[in-house]
Amino acid sequence: MDTIVVGAGAIGLGIAWRLAQQGRHVLVLDRGEPGSGASFHAAGMLAPITEATFGEDALLGLNLASAAAYPAFLRELAAASGSSLASAAPGTLFVAVDRDQLEVLERLYAFQRGLGLAVEWLRGSSCRELEPALHPAVRAGIRTAEQEVDPRALTAALECAVAAAGGRVRSGAEVAALLRDRDQVAGVVLTTGEEIAAPCVVLAAGCWTGGIAGVPQEVAGAVRPVKGQILRFRPRLGEALPIRHLVRTEEVYLVPRSSPARGDEIVVGATVEEQGFDTSLTGGGVYELLRAGIEVVPAIREMELAEASAGLRPGTRDNAPLLGPLLGAGGLAGLVVATGHHRNGILLTPVTADAIASVVCGGGVPEAIAAFRPDRFAPGAWACC
Ligand code: GLY
Repeated sequence: MDTIVVGAGAIGLGIAWRLAQQGRHVLVLDRGEPGSGASFHAAGMLAPITEATFGEDALLGLNLASAAAYPAFLRELAAASGSSLASAAPGTLFVAVDRDQLEVLERLYAFQRGLGLAVEWLRGSSCRELEPALHPAVRAGIRTAEQEVDPRALTAALECAVAAAGGRVRSGAEVAALLRDRDQVAGVVLTTGEEIAAPCVVLAAGCWTGGIAGVPQEVAGAVRPVKGQILRFRPRLGEALPIRHLVRTEEVYLVPRSSPARGDEIVVGATVEEQGFDTSLTGGGVYELLRAGIEVVPAIREMELAEASAGLRPGTRDNAPLLGPLLGAGGLAGLVVATGHHRNGILLTPVTADAIASVVCGGGVPEAIAAFRPDRFAPGAWACC
């Protein structure tokens, strides 16, 4: 074993796949089943443009780079795993259903245009021509080419690809602590007491990263759980999905998908809540998603509510991930960090996998992740974005 990856979500599996392809002997450890953490609940929007927010320019650059890498990543993954993950969605419509939302949408459009992003302003009638199931009150929309990927199918395909490339994945293996030999990481110890030696450990355990003893405080203290409640609707027997585009408003997003495993569905998400590690569903959370979803696509009212769940995003203070080796004073040689992806874990999987594989395999820290140092929140540290 030369590399342990802690966490078998999309990020950890993506990294493990790239490492195994490059001949590393990789073991991925997960506290539960592969893909059962944040990736299981994620909607899978590949949305660097419609998720773009004021003041997050560095993150936008990373998100755009990963979105651009996605088509080739999925083609390669399909060849490696035998599973095609191509999206049928023709793009995304970010719409406004009332005057307040229209003002927000206009500001967002000006911001996106100012950044040179590929967006198109549509009148309400044009939005409804594209998606007749939109509420008649829709006043305007921004169209982008953004698509989606099924996160559950993605993690399943990545698990196959890791195995096909010679890597191993172990479920139910919760890492309690890092092992160290002076200033060098030496492996991990599981909650069962089992020790696994390796000279390189990649931390991709999402919001659980901070619970691993021995993780330097600048990383452990920088990641927090951000709860997201999310719903999945199925059409009634014999009925088609009411929308083909991803549809979003300021309050909610709807992701239509035809999944070979689960059939047709619309994913409606998601709340953003500071509730620690709580994953309970609440009346208020589910109500707000239903209200906002039905407000923009009334046909949701007639669909079967097939699933409601809550996951935990790994949030950071600047909403950007922690990526790379720990080089500072409290650093630990051989420890590489890949967590804190917050709302963008599925989107950032390709770019994270390539960049972290470069770090582990001695290729240095790629320019793409230079602004996302994992020690940037240490007191007095170099600040990024
Ligand atoms: N990327 C959408 C979310 O985190 O809810």
